[in-house]
Amino acid sequence: MCGIVGAVAHRKVGKILLEGLKRLEYRGYDSAGLATLEITGIQRIRQAGKVDALETALASVDLNGTQGIAHTRWATHGEASETNAHPHMSGHSVALVHNGIIDNYQEVKEGLTTKGYRFETQTDSEVIAHLIDSHYQESRNLTKAVRSAVESLAGAYAIAVMHVEHPGLLVCTRQGAPLVIGVGIDEHFIASDQLALTQVTNRFIYLEEHDLAELTAETLTIFDEQNVQVERTVQSFNITQDAADKGSFKHYMMKEIFEQPAVVKRCLEGRINQGRVLDVMFGSSSKEILDQTKAVQIVACGTSYHAGLVAKYWIEELSRIPCQVEVASEYRYRKTVPLPNTLFITLSQSGETADTLAALRKAKKEGYEGSLTICNVPGSSMVRESDLALMMNAGPEIGVASTKAFVAQLVCLMMLTLALARRTGLSEEIERNIVLGLQSLPHAIQQILDLDKRIRSLSKHYMKKNHALFLGRGVMYPIAMEGALKLKEISYIHAEAYPAGELKHGPLALVDKEMPIIAVAPNDDLIDKLKSNLEVVSARGGEICVFADQHVELKEGPSLTVLPVGRIQPFLEPILMVIPLQLLSYYVAVLKGTDIDQPRNLAKSVTVE
Ligand code: F6R
Repeated sequence: MCGIVGAVAHRKVGKILLEGLKRLEYRGYDSAGLATLEITGIQRIRQAGKVDALETALASVDLNGTQGIAHTRWATHGEASETNAHPHMSGHSVALVHNGIIDNYQEVKEGLTTKGYRFETQTDSEVIAHLIDSHYQESRNLTKAVRSAVESLAGAYAIAVMHVEHPGLLVCTRQGAPLVIGVGIDEHFIASDQLALTQVTNRFIYLEEHDLAELTAETLTIFDEQNVQVERTVQSFNITQDAADKGSFKHYMMKEIFEQPAVVKRCLEGRINQGRVLDVMFGSSSKEILDQTKAVQIVACGTSYHAGLVAKYWIEELSRIPCQVEVASEYRYRKTVPLPNTLFITLSQSGETADTLAALRKAKKEGYEGSLTICNVPGSSMVRESDLALMMNAGPEIGVASTKAFVAQLVCLMMLTLALARRTGLSEEIERNIVLGLQSLPHAIQQILDLDKRIRSLSKHYMKKNHALFLGRGVMYPIAMEGALKLKEISYIHAEAYPAGELKHGPLALVDKEMPIIAVAPNDDLIDKLKSNLEVVSARGGEICVFADQHVELKEGPSLTVLPVGRIQPFLEPILMVIPLQLLSYYVAVLKGTDIDQPRNLAKSVTVE
């Protein structure tokens, strides 16, 4: 999704802005631009395509400005072109960058057109620049003009603005899209994501909804929704350069897949004592909320939704507490009926996904027992707006396709399951057994990563296919869904997941040599049923590859490849089984030569509906 960077300092900011944009590339975008305030006025350079193209264009421009704003755009209104790229300007005086979508932009545009404003772009964002200018004409006060302008906007926005008559001043505000201020020494920065600023500061302030901030190099003044000046906490984060670097890996996705043993270790750190999970990890008011919990509602999108589906099997089996899971974009618009004493859980890597955040806000109005977010980004909107927060501690995830965050979510969800199940009578022995399993996960994952070469050679088989069917039963069904999602998003091969028992109700009609089947087979109660599902496929000429628990007996043949993936405590097998599916998708995408870290049309943090 779109990214914002801004800076006001006593040094030239062109390079800082460009570096910030590079750090935001992972979010997905299709054009980029920046503007600095020079002695001669606002200097704006924009390019369709990648930040590299912008950098090339900048090579011939002498930027000396000590304040500026920059943007990566993910097209929503109007094609990805230089004209539609941000910053947008009103005349030569106002420059603006915007993340989000303005729902009433047509209406605002008509009003501005009658006032004589002319529009150069097809975007909703350009109207904000002109709207600010029209208010500025009345007050000559930039802060006031920005406040008045956003009062007539409906939709989501994070904006940063500068004005040619106010050198040394940046104004920014947000509603429904994140914005963070970076605090430096005699310099201030703005970004939609703190990762854009870790090269210049490790001190951040997260703006609340409707906050408006005035930034100069030395000062920072924040006003809340009522226009009252407020103090917001400065938080320090030490995200090492390393964490956001590819290192020796060719892609972030590969790096993140291989980081997973370390991620699991980090996620467990300080959360287990003498073989049991510690409630304190959920926050100070967790005891009261968890004690009262009689039902669980999980809401999430994409990969995070799949983690929620796995948790449903765990929570219902181990704690006997009913658990519902729903995609956020459906949940937020549905007339829902919360059960009494329900814990509302959001799962989100970014903590900013628009649909999940809206679902959380809706749930808070509906009177749930409490809300918990399992999230990877400290200070994100979901963390700030939930009663309880459990951090995944996975470190920055840069690849658009989520891998390590999924595994960290599952580890967190299993710890939550144990905390709930202990209250409903789960024996200490079973808890200890699962905790031991969690502690052995890093080693077990590493063993699968060591199968890397074998999976790479398997991937050749899939690169020429146009479709693939993923099968699983029980808790492995969501893992099959996750495998299908990974394959489709990075290799653009159409992939579907089915619970294996559903095959004969329709999808079997698709099975032939051109439709490879990928199955995940744990050694559980359903294994014999899965085997007979696979035989039905073989009998129809389907080619099958099974990632199986090493104790599952399956005989390889011309149309059946079996890849044993080791063993772990049975409840934890889904965590292990997803790893080979991540690797398989990755290698298929490498062979197909796709843009693995930034697949076409996708964005990392989906901050618009
Ligand atoms: C897929 C993927 C997406 C995200 C989804 C939710 O690989 O990454 O499906 O899982 O957009 O994002 P978060 O977890 O940030 O809410």
